[in-house]
Amino acid sequence: MRQSIIAGNWKMNMTPSEAEKFIDEFLALDLDRKGEVVICPPFVDLYPLSKKLVDNPIKLGAQNVHTEDAGAFTGEVSVPMLKDLGVQYVIIGHSERREIFKESNDFINKKLLKLLSSNLVPILCLGESLEERQAGREFDLVKSQLLACLKDVDSDQVSNIVIAYEPIWAIGTGKSASSDDAETMCKFIRTEVEKLYPGQGQKIRILYGGSVKPATINELMAKENVDGALVGGASLKVEDFKELVSYEVNHD
Ligand code: PGA
Repeated sequence: MRQSIIAGNWKMNMTPSEAEKFIDEFLALDLDRKGEVVICPPFVDLYPLSKKLVDNPIKLGAQNVHTEDAGAFTGEVSVPMLKDLGVQYVIIGHSERREIFKESNDFINKKLLKLLSSNLVPILCLGESLEERQAGREFDLVKSQLLACLKDVDSDQVSNIVIAYEPIWAIGTGKSASSDDAETMCKFIRTEVEKLYPGQGQKIRILYGGSVKPATINELMAKENVDGALVGGASLKVEDFKELVSYEVNHD
C-alpha cells in the first residue's frame, strides 16, 4: 500500500505572520487526516512553521533548493539549511520554475540527485502545456521529462521520489484535468517507471496537481494510480485545505 500525500504548494503567498495564523487555525480544527500532509511555504515561513510543528505529523516541504551545500550563490538556499529546519520534502521541476526561471531538465536532475543523496524527498513535477496536449504530444513530453530527470538515479532510490503530474494548462486556471485524464497519465508514468526500474513502479507515489479543490478531491483520490495531490490555490484557505486532507476513502 502506498501512503497518500496531500501537499500544499503555497507558492509566493503568505508572510511569516500570515503563515503562523494559518497554522494556528489549521491545527485548531478537528482534522480527519487520511495520509501524509505536507505544507510547502515560501522559505521565510519555514522557520516559524517549524517551531509550530514540533511533534506534529504535518510535514514541511520547500519549493526549491540549490545543488550546492554552500558558497557564492546569491539568493539560493541549500540542503543543509532546509534540513536544519526539519524540512523533509522539496518540490523540484515545477512548471513555474521551468518557464519563468528557465530551469532545464538537466538542472532538475542535478537537484533530484542531490536530494536523494541527502535523504530529502523530491516532489518531481512533470506536465505538458496546452499546445502539447492539443497536438497529442502529452505522453511523449512527459516521458521525455521523466527520462531526463531520472538520469543516473539508482533502482534502490527511485521509490523515495514522489512524482507530481501537473498539466500546465490546469495550474491556477480553475480548469482541472478530469479525474480520468489524471488517472491515465499517472498510470502511464507508473508504467514508464516500471519499464525503467522493474519492480519499482508499484512503489513510487504519483500525485496529480492542477486546480485541485475540495469538490474534486474525492473523485481524484478514488483513482487507482493517483496517490495524492499537489495543491496550490486551495491550500491557502484553511477550510479548503482541511477538506482536502480529509478526503473520503473509497473502499469499493
Ligand atoms: P493550483 O496549483 O492548485 O493553484 O492549480 C497547483 C500547483 O501549481 O502546484
